[in-house]
Amino acid sequence: MMTEILEPVSRTAPSQQAVLEVKDLDVDIRTPKGTVRVVSKVGFSARSGKTLALLGESGCGKSMTAKAIAGLLDPVASVAGGSAHLESHDLFSMTAKQRRSVAGEGLGIVFQDALAALNPVYTIGTQLGEAFRIHRGASKKQAKVEAIELMRRVGIPEPETRVNSYPHQFSGGMRQRILIAMAVALSPKLLIADEPTTALDVTVQAQIMQLLRSLRTEEQMAVVLITHDLAVVAEEADDVCVMYAGNVVEQGSVETVFNRPTHPYTKGLLSSVPADAHRGSSLTSIPGSPPELSKIPTGCVYQDRCPLASAICREQRPELRPTGPAQSAACHFAEQVSALDPQSEPVTGQDSER
Ligand SMILES: Nc1ncnc2c1ncn2[C@@H]1O[C@H](COP(=O)(O)OP(=O)(O)O)[C@@H](O)[C@H]1O
Ligand SMILES: [Mg+2]
Repeated sequence: MMTEILEPVSRTAPSQQAVLEVKDLDVDIRTPKGTVRVVSKVGFSARSGKTLALLGESGCGKSMTAKAIAGLLDPVASVAGGSAHLESHDLFSMTAKQRRSVAGEGLGIVFQDALAALNPVYTIGTQLGEAFRIHRGASKKQAKVEAIELMRRVGIPEPETRVNSYPHQFSGGMRQRILIAMAVALSPKLLIADEPTTALDVTVQAQIMQLLRSLRTEEQMAVVLITHDLAVVAEEADDVCVMYAGNVVEQGSVETVFNRPTHPYTKGLLSSVPADAHRGSSLTSIPGSPPELSKIPTGCVYQDRCPLASAICREQRPELRPTGPAQSAACHFAEQVSALDPQSEPVTGQDSER
């Protein structure tokens, strides 16, 4: 980590380097009724020392995107197209063995449910030490020393004694700290945190976000933060990728996108939250609900809820295109979004073909 910081400044600053570059990612799920595309042409990049948020309602494909990148898709799901590079490593064209080694060292992932992610029959010390034994050839004794050090780094009190405890002996917040410790054990370049605080109460949520922030800064990790919480994005992220029904509908810097959204969905999300929004506000106030992924209409994925929808939106899927200096959106009418009345209802009637 230090070597990067000490490199000559004439090179691209570390904060600007893309650690993760995802392009045109498609993920399919096999169901009894046929194959369903749950992630469609998703692309983004995550930079060293910065947080990229994947924002969207439940079921829009955030976790599938994360699992595809980490090589952790369920057997019913598969990557159907696109690429993901972790620095110079092409993650989708590696053998399983190469991938385990690259991902094991280079990529850490934290899930929402820490209890399910920990093994109930092994001590925390054993589970935290495992990465050092597998990837660094550490002895049992060395691994335990490393585990204690990790526990200290993530703020677990009395690590020398707690190292011998089992997962159920920790609170939810402490278990999430342990999961974060496991994810950062080998100083990965990339940390993916999938709704890391959803299961926790508000004060603990803030502490966990604070921990992620300080680890990111210390290690200059790129962080991909998955959330359905606008306030978390506003507070924690540098860049945001807004997802809807498996598609990216808008992306850019948080400042730009939140100040001047250029997709009606983003605009709707932002106006549905009161100005004094706090953590935990959910994204459900736009009338209607996302389409079933097996029944995504021709044309724009957002047409059924969109106040700007017209004939072209029902016929042609809009591609992501630049809508500002650090911003792009997939909307035929992006230029009209800023004038939208926040209370507008979807357009129906003679324009509609259904
Ligand atoms: N094992 C599965 N079998 C069938 N469908 C699934 C499975 N896992 C997820 N899905 C579907 O894939 C879509 C995307 O899911 P997910 O990525 O978990 O959404 P998010 O994380 O944004 O809430 C959802 O519509 C969900 O119903
Ligand atoms: Mg999810």
